[in-house]
Amino acid sequence: MSVVTVDLADHPYDIHIEAGLLANIATYLARYARSGRFLVISDENVAHHIWPGIRTRFSQSDISAELFILPAGESGKSWAELEKLTDWLLEHHVERSDHIIALGGGVVGDITGFAAHIVKRGCSFIQIPTTLLAQVDSSVGGKTAINSKSGKNLVGAFHQPSIVLIDPDVLESLPRRQLAAGFAEVVKYGLIDDPDFFDWCETNLDAFFAGDASARHYAIEHSVAAKARNVAADEKELSGTRALLNLGHTFGHALEADTGFSDRLFHGEAVAAGMVLAFRYSSQIGLCDEGDANRAANLLHKAGLPVTLADAGISADGKALVDYMMHDKKMAGGKLPFLLARGIGKTFLSKDVDLADVAAFLDAQHSAEFAV
Ligand SMILES: NC(=O)c1ccc[n+]([C@@H]2O[C@H](COP(=O)([O-])OP(=O)(O)OC[C@H]3O[C@@H](n4cnc5c(N)ncnc54)[C@H](O)[C@@H]3O)[C@@H](O)[C@H]2O)c1
Ligand SMILES: [Zn+2]
Repeated sequence: MSVVTVDLADHPYDIHIEAGLLANIATYLARYARSGRFLVISDENVAHHIWPGIRTRFSQSDISAELFILPAGESGKSWAELEKLTDWLLEHHVERSDHIIALGGGVVGDITGFAAHIVKRGCSFIQIPTTLLAQVDSSVGGKTAINSKSGKNLVGAFHQPSIVLIDPDVLESLPRRQLAAGFAEVVKYGLIDDPDFFDWCETNLDAFFAGDASARHYAIEHSVAAKARNVAADEKELSGTRALLNLGHTFGHALEADTGFSDRLFHGEAVAAGMVLAFRYSSQIGLCDEGDANRAANLLHKAGLPVTLADAGISADGKALVDYMMHDKKMAGGKLPFLLARGIGKTFLSKDVDLADVAAFLDAQHSAEFAV
């Protein structure tokens, strides 16, 4: 078992990582939560695959819990679902001493955290992430949100969980494509500032995807520790340290927008192609070796992720893609901060990227041939 602490001055919390943790969930929760009820929020798929095992453990230990089921996928993060969820919590007379549990992927975690933030002016909540993406990224850090007509994640709040419980065994039922999407965010930590971890990902990719328990544990623990450090250094994204976690996300956002934020391109898939574009662009403007861009592309490609515009199913031209980026929330004073790289593990925030140049670069990517 590993415990990683998110060292925030006002509200530090622990992340527990252990294969088989959910088989002992009752013991865990009994230790942590001596009073109060459990109000569990999940989605259709997780309610089918993961919840029955937890329900059995709960009833064996005389723990009573209520379950609210969201539709699976991004549509779960809507105003309509938020209204249903907050009504449900209030109908159950949720008290601050109760325990709201987000059991699911990033969608469940994001909307549950936001509901917990606004109901009764703030209730605590527990994250039990069940996708790789949620385990290594979204369950840690306290960003919560729903989507609105104007875009994704535009309505939300910072609201940290009180504890995060990660059981790598839940990944057994996760579809391979979703596992790869989460793996993109794992590789991201190496590309940002940890070349040794990038090497580890290259060496252990096959073991990870074959389900090797120690490879999975290490990848999750290492990623979570990196995220925890970043969040502790810059909880509300004020100093810029936390912004490094957005590597690949500006390009990726344009790809997600062009595919309608749909199942055609998952978030992690867009991030994979986006990171490769950030490296290729950095290489084109002479910041980074082409060999490093190729290494990043090769690893992500081997994981089964899209690494070119064609792989990602994008036909929009460079100008259209740059327009999507300009509607992204990270615009500041008319400039678009861009995460670029001087090599693997050498990501930095650049504030003077020429958007016309980026558009021309993207146009050229449509006809470029890559040997991956
Ligand atoms: N808050 C943050 O810091 C942050 C960071 C990154 C992403 N996000 C958000 O996270 C969301 C994406 O999260 P996600 O990739 O986890 O997507 P998701 O929550 O939609 O889960 C992906 C799919 O896997 C299913 N699923 C989940 N766990 C399963 C399991 N163990 N077995 C079988 N099926 C399972 C879900 O039902 C869903 O169909 C996006 O809305 C994104 O904006 C938030
Ligand atoms: Zn992401």
